[in-house]
Amino acid sequence: MSGGENQELIINGKRLDGRMPDELRPIKIEANVLHNADGSAYIEWGNNKIIAGVYGPKEALPKHISDPERAIIKCRYQMAPFSSLEEHGRSGPNRRSIEISKVTKEVFENVVMLDHFPGSEIDIFVEVLQGDGGTRTAGITAAAVALATSGIPMRDLPFAVSAGKVGDTIILDLNKIEDNSSDADMPVAVSPRTNTVLLLQMDGELTRQDINTAFSMVQKAGTYISKLQREAIKAPYEKIKDKYNK
Ligand code: CDP
Repeated sequence: MSGGENQELIINGKRLDGRMPDELRPIKIEANVLHNADGSAYIEWGNNKIIAGVYGPKEALPKHISDPERAIIKCRYQMAPFSSLEEHGRSGPNRRSIEISKVTKEVFENVVMLDHFPGSEIDIFVEVLQGDGGTRTAGITAAAVALATSGIPMRDLPFAVSAGKVGDTIILDLNKIEDNSSDADMPVAVSPRTNTVLLLQMDGELTRQDINTAFSMVQKAGTYISKLQREAIKAPYEKIKDKYNK
């Protein structure tokens, strides 16, 4: 939602929350947070609080949607009714949640080794407990960790983050106020091993030069986000190792 509503978002070179243009919000990721899911992760990204749960691979149902050559991915992104101060209207999926579910599914269709599980389905649930802009990118980052902990083979561990523009300045990781009032915002998901773009959406206008600047910020942030993802996946095993090494 880029309104370009002219709110001062950068004052003396700093953003309203004190960040520099290329600075991420604080991020914490924890893997294996749900007992009854095959894989799960919890992410706190600034004020976003999101849980991702993965189930499967299991028999694809109803039968007519199954693919004899590969697994199918189902994805449901949802914001909890208490996740923001905004009006959420009727419960159930809305246009926005259907869109975010779709783009998230497409990210993982390009990295999960679907041909290993013909006839099955893999379910990805992204539940936003608290939202503050960038929930689709934080959700994708968490879902990647959830998939990895489920043991489903992937070609890579994707991460996602958004970039945008305020006046002449390119900024990284827009929060909700920035998302609402910036001149442009561009959520991106990347497969870091091959540097392949798995998601690119854009709201507002960015020049070719802006996009280059935004991508170099995304890439730099990605090195850090990928490291947090890998540490989160390893953490439960490190705990076991510590226990036995005592
Ligand atoms: O969250 P993301 O930036 O990926 O998606 P958006 O559609 O650009 O929404 C920006 C932010 O607006 C969300 O992160 C929420 O904080 C807020 N929002 C909300 O609270 N309720 C909605 N129904 C839609 C958006």
